[in-house]
Amino acid sequence: MSKVALNFEDGVTRFVETAGYETIAEAAYRVGINIPLDCADGACGTCKCLSKSGSFDPGDYIDEALSEEEAESGYGLACQMRPESDMIVEILASSAACKVEVTAYETEITELTFLSSEIVKLKAKIKDGSTITFLPGQYANILVPGTTETRSYSFSCLSDTSEIEFIIRLISEGGLMSDYLRQAKVGETLTITGPLGSFYSREINRQTLFFAGGTGIAPFISMLEKLNKEGSTETIKLYYGATTEENIVELDRVKAYANVDVETYACISNGECDSFPSGYVTQWITKEELTADVYDIYICGPNAMVDAVKSSLEENQINFDNFYTEKFIPTGAVSEPA
Ligand SMILES: Cc1cc2nc3c(=O)[nH]c(=O)nc-3n(C[C@H](O)[C@H](O)[C@H](O)COP(=O)(O)OP(=O)(O)OC[C@H]3O[C@@H](n4cnc5c(N)ncnc54)[C@H](O)[C@@H]3O)c2cc1C
Ligand code: FES
Repeated sequence: MSKVALNFEDGVTRFVETAGYETIAEAAYRVGINIPLDCADGACGTCKCLSKSGSFDPGDYIDEALSEEEAESGYGLACQMRPESDMIVEILASSAACKVEVTAYETEITELTFLSSEIVKLKAKIKDGSTITFLPGQYANILVPGTTETRSYSFSCLSDTSEIEFIIRLISEGGLMSDYLRQAKVGETLTITGPLGSFYSREINRQTLFFAGGTGIAPFISMLEKLNKEGSTETIKLYYGATTEENIVELDRVKAYANVDVETYACISNGECDSFPSGYVTQWITKEELTADVYDIYICGPNAMVDAVKSSLEENQINFDNFYTEKFIPTGAVSEPA
C-alpha cells in the first residue's frame, strides 16, 4: 500500500492510498476524485501527470500518449502508473475540475502561547479525533470566528496529527485574525481547511538552503520535524531573519533536533543585540559562504524578503537545481505589503 499526495493546479492537496497494485487513477476514483481520464488504456495522454517524488511502475502506453522525453522528466500516465513507494504527484487540472472538496476540520483551541510580544503559537485539536495529513511546508486556511473571512497559516508540526500547530505574528493594529487571537481562549472553536499549497519539502539529496523571514520559520519547522523523525544525512543551512531578538522564535527547538544536522544563522533587522548579528539574511549570500556547486533552495516569509533573497542569489550567482518560495501575502493585498 502506498500513500499518494495528489497536488492539484490550484494548490489543493488530497491523499489517496493504493490498495494492492492499483494504478493512481484507480485509487483516486475509488474515493471520488475524478482526475482527467479518457481511454484509461495508455493511449490518449489525457491523464498525464508529473511525479515529484517517489517511484512507480510506468505501465504500458504508446508514444503518442507520453513521449520518451516526458517520461524522463518524471511525467507518467495516471491510468497506468502503479506506485512502488509513497509519492507526490502533480495533477494537471484544478481540484474543482476533479470534484475534490477541501476538507474542513472543526477544531478546538488547546494552546495559545506567546513566544514573543507579537508571535503566538496556536494549537488546535480536531474535535472528532480524526487526523489531518499534509506535506511539510503546506498551509491551511483558518476561518476568523464571527466572520466569513479566512486567513492562511503554514503548519508548524508533523503531519498525520489530530492536534495542529501554527506560529502566527499578530500585526499591530487592524488585523482581523490578529485582533481575534489577542483575546481568543483555549476551548474556542476554529474551522480549519486544508491542506493547501505547493511549497513543500521534496527529497533532500543535495545541499539545501532554507531562508526564513519572521514567522516564515513555521513551514521550515514542519519540514525539519519530519526530517528529524525520519533521520537525514544531509546538512541543512537555515538562514533566519526577524525584526528583533525576541522575534527569533523556536530556534532552540531547531537546535535540539538530534537526527538532522541543521546549521543555523539568525539575524535581526531592527537595532542590535548580543545574541545575533544585525542586518538581513542576504548578508550570508556570498560565494565565500555558499561554496557548493549547486543547491536546492527554499524561501518563505514576507514578499519583500523573498524578493530580496531571490535577487541576492542571482547577483551572487549561487546555482540551484530546485527553487521553491512561499510569500506571506496579506489577504486581498494587490501590491507589496509595507
Ligand atoms: C500561504 C500563506 C501562508 C501564511 N502563513 C503564515 C504563518 O505561518 N504565520 C503568519 O504569521 N502569517 C502567515 N501568513 C500571513 C497571514 O495569512 C495573514 O496575512 C496575517 O496573519 C495577517 O492577518 P490579519 O487577519 O491579522 O490581518 P488582515 O485583516 O489581513 O490585514 C489588515 C491590514 O493589515 C495589513 N497587513 C497584513 N499583514 C501585514 C503584515 N505582515 N505587515 C504589515 N501589514 C500587514 C493588510 O494589508 C491590511 O491592510 C501566511 C500567508 C499566506 C498567503
Ligand atoms: S486516460 Fe488515456 S492515457 Fe490515461
